Amino acid sequence: MQYGIIGGTGFEAPFSPAKEEIFSTPYGDAKLIYPENKPYVFVSRHGTDHTIPPHKVPYRANIWALKEIGVTEVYGISAVGSLKKAYGPDSVVLCDDFLDFTKTRPHTFYDGDHEAAKHIAMAAPYDSELNDAFEAALGEKLPRGVYVATEGPRFESRAEIKFYASIGGDMVGMTNVPEVVLAREMGLHYANICHVINYCTGVEDTMVISKSEEVRNKIIRAVDEVFTSDRVP
Ligand code: HPA
Repeated sequence: MQYGIIGGTGFEAPFSPAKEEIFSTPYGDAKLIYPENKPYVFVSRHGTDHTIPPHKVPYRANIWALKEIGVTEVYGISAVGSLKKAYGPDSVVLCDDFLDFTKTRPHTFYDGDHEAAKHIAMAAPYDSELNDAFEAALGEKLPRGVYVATEGPRFESRAEIKFYASIGGDMVGMTNVPEVVLAREMGLHYANICHVINYCTGVEDTMVISKSEEVRNKIIRAVDEVFTSDRVP
C-alpha cells in the first residue's frame, strides 16, 4: 500500500466502507483502516470515536505502521486555529514549516532504545510536490503557513497567541508535531493540509468553531483524487 491519510478532528473516518486492522509495533498498536477499493490506508488520529487527546495520540505507532506496510506518501489533515485575520474559518492552508511548543510527548524514533541517535534535517519538513498535487486536484491555489504546535488539550491564552503571531506563526494546532517529524525520520513524503475551524484566542472577541461539512468534503475528495489518479509526482 503506497498511500496513507492521517485524519484529525472532523476527519475521524474515511467516507467509504472500510476494514480495520490492529497493527502491532514496538511503540504500541496502530489502527489501520482500509477503505474498500481505495489505494490508500487511513489512520484516525484521535480514534474513530474521537477519544484520543492530542498528547496521547500514538504518533510513533501510526508512522511506524504506515512505513511497515510500504506507505511512501502521506497526507495529514488537521483542524487548526488561525492567527491571521486573512485566514478565517473554513480557509484551507498548507503547512510549509512549523514551530514546536509541545512538551510531554515521545517525539522521535532515535531515542537510543530501538534506534541509534540520529539527527534528521528539518529544512523542508513538508513535501512541496504533495502540496502542489493537492492544489491541482482541488483546482485552487492555497496559502502556505507556519504551523505552531501546542501541547493542548486546552486552547491557548491570549498572551500565548500574541506571542505565537509575533514569532511568525500562521496557524495553531495540537498534533502536527511530532507527526511530521516522525514521518521525516521514517523517510516518508508527508504534507499537512490545515482546515481552519476558528480564529485563535483573542484574534476575534469570541471564539466560534466552524463545523462546515462542505470544506471537509472538498478536502477529502481532493486527497482521494490525488491518490486514485496519476497526480502523485
Ligand atoms: N488552538 C490549538 N489547536 C486548535 C485550535 C486552536 O485555536 N483550533 C483547532 N485546533
